[in-house]
Amino acid sequence: MSEQTLDVVVVSRSEPAEDIVVLDLAAAAGASLPRFEPGAHVDVHLGPDLIRQYSLCGDPADRSRYQLGILLAAGSRGGSAAIHRDVHAGDHLRIGVPRNLFPLQAAASKTILIGGGIGVTPLLAMARHCAAHAKDFTLHYCARSRAKAAFLDVLEAAPLAAHSCLHLDDGPEAQRFLPERDLPAPAAGTHLYVCGPAGFMEWVIGEAHRLGHPEAQIHREYFEADVDTSGDAFEVKLAKSGKSVMVPAGVPIVKALAEIGVKVEVSCEQGICGTCMCTALEGVPDHRDNYLTDEEKAANDQILVCCSRSKTPTLVLDL
Ligand code: FES
Repeated sequence: MSEQTLDVVVVSRSEPAEDIVVLDLAAAAGASLPRFEPGAHVDVHLGPDLIRQYSLCGDPADRSRYQLGILLAAGSRGGSAAIHRDVHAGDHLRIGVPRNLFPLQAAASKTILIGGGIGVTPLLAMARHCAAHAKDFTLHYCARSRAKAAFLDVLEAAPLAAHSCLHLDDGPEAQRFLPERDLPAPAAGTHLYVCGPAGFMEWVIGEAHRLGHPEAQIHREYFEADVDTSGDAFEVKLAKSGKSVMVPAGVPIVKALAEIGVKVEVSCEQGICGTCMCTALEGVPDHRDNYLTDEEKAANDQILVCCSRSKTPTLVLDL
């Protein structure tokens, strides 16, 4: 999580689609905002222990504004519901400085952006950047219906209109996203970027693999994930403090640690943001996050303690 924070003011709030609020933020002091890379997100501090990450979807070249698009999540744990209910034009917010875990590959010769629902937000910033730099790119935006699709004004106007394809679940069959038709043939310089609900991403990524796109050229960002803490109990030993604790089935490691007085900072609590990452010294983590890469998971020396578990009876952490 970003340590440095910014005071910003909400300069406008709109609701361009069902259950989606778009906020434009400016620096409260009137200065320029820090530069951000396409794909970046910010932590939004909504209250004590309530920090949520939202992608920046505005123009990365515009340092006068940050734009966020926030879906009212079904079963919201407080983040999106608080924004939809409580945040209005003129309000001040504290946000982290932009962080980018979903960077564009600058050397790509072809960039394909595939967004499901509100997952289009980081891709929108990427699309704006690609358009401004005359890159070869296409943005596929899959939404349930026009009423649930935000940012249509931007996507259907120059310069993005010529590069954007809207795919609606309730539209004619022919306009639905069809990987074998809509994805280009795999090639050395072709990179895919996928963001959306977990099921959508699994499907798109699975199809991309099936069509021969190399894993290293498929980039992804999850914004929601189910946390599954089922499985056997195990012991966590802490190398620095000498403490240990049993982690029962259904209890996240971070909660078991809190019960013995060891606090690990968390943010998303869904294995997405990386805030709770700890070093694993011994044992084999049962990785259940969507943050570490496959290679990092295979190394088994890091673990996200908000969601992951242990494959071995004991796990030793560097805490
Ligand atoms: S708190 Fe976000 S990954 Fe654990």
